[in-house]
Amino acid sequence: MHNGSDIEVRWLKWEEAAEEILDLRRRVFMSELGWSEERVHHDSDPEGLHLCALSGGKIVAAISAYVYGPGAPGTAALELPDLDGPTVEIGKRVALQTHRGRLISTRIANSMVRQLCESLCPSRFFLIVRPSQYDHLLDRYAKRDFVVRGEVGSGDDAVTVMTVEGGEALERFYLRHRELTWESRSDDERLAIPSLVRFLADEGRGDLLAAERLGAENFYLDLLSLQEEAPRLSAQGRLVLAEQRPRLASTPFPPAPASLLDVGSGPGDYLAAVTEESPFAGYRVCGVEPAPQLLARARSNFPGLTFHQGTAYATGEADASHDVVTASFLFVHLRSPDLALLEMRRVLRPGGLLYVVDVDDAAFRGPDVVRRMLETYDREYAADRTILNDLPERAAEFGFQPVRSFSTTLGYVVDAEPGFGPDEIRLGREQAWSLLSFVRSQRGIEESFLEARDHYFGVECEIGVDIKTQVYRRRP
Ligand SMILES: C[S@@+](CC[C@H](N)C(=O)[O-])C[C@H]1O[C@@H](n2cnc3c(N)ncnc32)[C@H](O)[C@@H]1O
Repeated sequence: MHNGSDIEVRWLKWEEAAEEILDLRRRVFMSELGWSEERVHHDSDPEGLHLCALSGGKIVAAISAYVYGPGAPGTAALELPDLDGPTVEIGKRVALQTHRGRLISTRIANSMVRQLCESLCPSRFFLIVRPSQYDHLLDRYAKRDFVVRGEVGSGDDAVTVMTVEGGEALERFYLRHRELTWESRSDDERLAIPSLVRFLADEGRGDLLAAERLGAENFYLDLLSLQEEAPRLSAQGRLVLAEQRPRLASTPFPPAPASLLDVGSGPGDYLAAVTEESPFAGYRVCGVEPAPQLLARARSNFPGLTFHQGTAYATGEADASHDVVTASFLFVHLRSPDLALLEMRRVLRPGGLLYVVDVDDAAFRGPDVVRRMLETYDREYAADRTILNDLPERAAEFGFQPVRSFSTTLGYVVDAEPGFGPDEIRLGREQAWSLLSFVRSQRGIEESFLEARDHYFGVECEIGVDIKTQVYRRRP
């Protein structure tokens, strides 16, 4: 539901909403715009994805997406050649006159695009513009990265097809829509938009989800040289272990014998250290990691642990096979947290725990110039380094109930000795800065990095980065 507003947003099946959606389209397309009945319908409506805003239980705005696999007649008729992945048409956006001006249909449209990118990973988006709409729409969509691909049909049936396709254009398109959804997070009228992944899984349409395509991405490794990153990761691991000891001790892990799965286990050092801790005595421990080079390192350094190749979206583990799933510094590197939550829920036994540790850039404290650098980095990073703010809401959709949450600030405090305080780790000046060294690896950010670094070392100032722990229980 909406924060203090009357709007509820839902993905609706065509069978349950067809009459209402058609009625809404008729009111707008026919009564207001004077279009014909034919244009109220779409051949693919029955399989379409319909995101609807409801007020008092009635649909007041809707937008639809139509997914075409390679070889689909719908795309061939529009002279769109086949691509490897799915093609998605966006269309039939409508809002009741009484509900315009509140950006409801804009917000659901932005969220729809974001979620489609995150969970279906389309190779192309397209939309159809008709001559009567040219004046305002061609321009509007061009500003949203669509390019005119061509005209199809003739006479009254002529339409213009606009597309977004190709790796770079799609990435821009995704980042832009994600940012728009971030902006609306702070609106008074924030809409809680449910998960497309959850909807598709519940409807038995999980085959549309792009677990495999997304699993081929590794944003963490894309940007880093392993040579430089390995020592940073082990230094971070030592710090985090110290921070985690009391967190682990106060979490009600199930007693042994039990099984723990660590997703995104990397070189395994952190997993090996954590599972030495008393809550895990007698546990069977397994790590899942997609990167072959990290997997090889983990297997050779920790022969007593088991490591499998897999991703957060497809771990390769059996249903309900683990009592605990851990994810340390993983979620901030995922394009689709929802798909990972779906998979984590699948492999956890009912009542099992999901234990997440990650950074939260939204909680960064420090001078503006450093904050701006971090924000620039985060805007361009295709995973979300502020995801922990949304995770409780998203996890709830996948049947996870919050059990505990903790937060620790790691940073430099002027005139304070390095050491441990409650919920705080005070580092030396250099060491605190090294927590931000990953920023430099992103293209185009060097100048902003150097400016921030010069400021930090030139002026006596403090920085603080939050590490958050969130523990969830999988509902039966
Ligand atoms: C920052 S490292 C954390 C490693 C380890 N968990 C730790 O805390 O030291 C992020 C890890 O996530 C892995 N990773 C990246 N994308 C992934 C995905 N889609 N599924 C699973 N792991 C992924 C990376 O290869 C890397 O090992």
